Amino acid sequence: MPLTHTRDLFAKALKGKYALGAFNVNNMELVQAIVEACEEEKAPLILQISRGARQYAKPVYLKKLIEAAVSLSNIPIAVHLDHGDTFELCQECIDEGFTSVMIDASHEPFAKNVEVCKRVVDYAHQHDCVVEGELGQLVGAQFDEGEAGGGFSHGGHYTHPEEAVKFVQLSGVDSLAVAIGNSHGAYKFKGEQHLDLERLKAIKKALLEAGLGDYPLVLHGASSVPKDLVEEINQFGGKLGTDTAGVPEPDIEVARRSGVTKVNIDTDLRLAMTAGIRKAFAENAKEFDPRKYLAPARTRVKELVRHKVRDVLCCAGHAFD
Ligand code: G3H
Ligand code: 13P
Ligand code: ZN
Repeated sequence: MPLTHTRDLFAKALKGKYALGAFNVNNMELVQAIVEACEEEKAPLILQISRGARQYAKPVYLKKLIEAAVSLSNIPIAVHLDHGDTFELCQECIDEGFTSVMIDASHEPFAKNVEVCKRVVDYAHQHDCVVEGELGQLVGAQFDEGEAGGGFSHGGHYTHPEEAVKFVQLSGVDSLAVAIGNSHGAYKFKGEQHLDLERLKAIKKALLEAGLGDYPLVLHGASSVPKDLVEEINQFGGKLGTDTAGVPEPDIEVARRSGVTKVNIDTDLRLAMTAGIRKAFAENAKEFDPRKYLAPARTRVKELVRHKVRDVLCCAGHAFD
């Protein structure tokens, strides 16, 4: 099966009320683990590649790995550029055959963000590729400094519903990543902080009321940072802080039911892989064949992805909708 378009995957996910997992890859074991998990769960899949992943593995290695995975599987797979930071990088990926790119100009002022996104959208749409933009900044829940303005704060780091509408209309992006207290990595929240799910619902509603339909929203920083993985890593010699915290899986479920269609997960994959490798090293300190510790690590990633697509995103069984 050739690469699939996120446009088609989004349309089906919105209709079926499930979310798509967008999993970051940068080596063979991750690609194999994720694709095999989705194959077994019959789940549609987005594999995403960051600038850092391209630098680490070299673009052609990742391209060939994904080609191999696509040729060996029959589930729909889309390839997405994660956090593209320049027009040139997006253009490069589009020319290489990515079916979806993210242009992340969210650190820029609104008008500049629109301008950069629109430039990528114009190029991508001429080349049968779709574009994810981002409005608001993923700095985490502790930094929403906006002034309360009759409901949702304006001028802080969080995405404002009315600005989201304007942004989508002006830039033409096909999906929108929102900032609602989410952030990347293993240390997302302190104390009782959590995602602003009411704001998410308001963004979705505003887009609908503006005539933009059932518009696909994207949740970055969606790893749950499972405590058991963190404890296992530390049990086998790791030194992760005791203040690790992710998005609780029930919150992802609410986000999915409130209109999030693409859920980005990287940190949890890293934790599963690290737990597998540390355990293998601890249990057999004499081992030095990489296959002996990478294989169990790959299995751990696969188990994690099976759990995500089946129990959290609910896209299992939807590969052939
Ligand atoms: O959101 C960022 C992703 O986790 C990719 O991270 O830039 O270290 O590859 P990276
Ligand atoms: P996590 O760090 O929560 O896995 O987020 C990944 C992500 O947003 C990739 O774009
Ligand atoms: Zn991200």
